[in-house]
Amino acid sequence: MAEAKFTFREMNPSETEAVLRMRNETFTPLTREKFDAMGCTSAIAKKGKDLWGAIPLQFREFTLRPGVSIPVIFENAVGVTEKARGMGLGTNMIEAAAEFLQDRVDAMFVYRGGERSAGYRFYRKTHHGDLYYVFTLMKHKPTGEDNNVEVLPWDEIPGYAGKLLPLYRQTQRGFGGHWVRDKGYYEKIVASHVHECGGGRLLLDRKGDKIAGYAVINTRMPNGDKTCCIYDLAASASASSRRLLSKIEYLAHKDKTGVHLLANHEHPLYAPLLKNGYVAQNETPYIMARIIRPDRIFQKLAKGSALLDELELLAVTPHRDIVINRPKKPQAKATLYLKESQFSRLMTCRLDFTAALKTNQIRLDPLDKKYENGLAKAFEFAPWAYWAMDYI
Ligand SMILES: CC(C)(COP(=O)(O)OP(=O)(O)OC[C@H]1O[C@@H](n2cnc3c(N)ncnc32)[C@H](O)[C@@H]1OP(=O)(O)O)[C@@H](O)C(=O)NCCC(=O)NCCS
Repeated sequence: MAEAKFTFREMNPSETEAVLRMRNETFTPLTREKFDAMGCTSAIAKKGKDLWGAIPLQFREFTLRPGVSIPVIFENAVGVTEKARGMGLGTNMIEAAAEFLQDRVDAMFVYRGGERSAGYRFYRKTHHGDLYYVFTLMKHKPTGEDNNVEVLPWDEIPGYAGKLLPLYRQTQRGFGGHWVRDKGYYEKIVASHVHECGGGRLLLDRKGDKIAGYAVINTRMPNGDKTCCIYDLAASASASSRRLLSKIEYLAHKDKTGVHLLANHEHPLYAPLLKNGYVAQNETPYIMARIIRPDRIFQKLAKGSALLDELELLAVTPHRDIVINRPKKPQAKATLYLKESQFSRLMTCRLDFTAALKTNQIRLDPLDKKYENGLAKAFEFAPWAYWAMDYI
């Protein structure tokens, strides 16, 4: 009898238990309840009845720049059975996911660091491009002061969602790079296995009935490290932000640990923290993406622009030919030449289009000023600010 062939496809609900078992063989084990709460689908590799690989995929709405968000999936706990690693199963699952997700999401995202790790190489080889890098901004010996900022348990976060959301939105209004939050966001985070390590706290800076600012910290990392990570911080004024930081540092001091935040120069806390004695260390890539529906993303990025009806826009990478925009009656046609990683950046507002053209990193043919200006506007670069609350 001929040996069964591998198939690569989306799981069906009856395969959830097998996917979870496979996931739990390689990563910190999760209960079925926690896994279901993530609302994942999964790409799978099967041979006959046996599961050989799985990539759980979590749906999210992700902000590219203020006012523009796209549906994406986050790849999480990508795994292939040990005996079959390096045989192409992981790559085939990514290709299958890019296909079966076409009608549901515009891009595949992943949080991934460790540029020299095998895991990172896998994503780079499967055409995920780096969008956002971070440093660990670290204060090793904080002191702070025991001010009036209140410290509440992790479980109380969802009860304050209505008060936290407006502060968060105000702080993030100039930035992309984050999960679109609604009231259910805080509930999902608190229920998630990711931050379940007993060290989460909510800090509130109250002024009478009003909350002037809040922060979320975690003093125990999921890997067991004792530290104090700033997960989230939003305040209506910088004085409130300073009070929150001072209390965070006081708590860390009492706990005999350092304080840290993952951020780069775009982040609203980057400059204040460096000024306040934090040092930038352990630089690493952090968010990667592979674009699967550039046409739909471009519709959003170029909304209101004549480009949508006038310009047929194509892109050519070493990997594939891509249609970005195809109007019914185009008046002009242009082609962009670039690498897949630059394409990921361009479609997520993470590439300065004009500078990239000028420095020959990307090429546009023909180089028509009118369209060049229109495209520079559509693809306008946006600063991103990531908060560890979003981590999957
Ligand atoms: C990472 C992983 C899913 C890749 O799947 P795979 O089927 O082994 O990968 P493919 O054969 O399709 O692609 C091979 C590429 O993946 C990378 N890779 C990562 N881990 C690997 C491993 N253990 N063995 C072989 N290749 C690996 C390499 O870059 C390799 O290409 P290269 O050898 O030419 O550099 C799989 O190796 C695995 O389950 N690893 C352990 C869990 C893990 O690290 N997950 C990723 C982080 S969430």
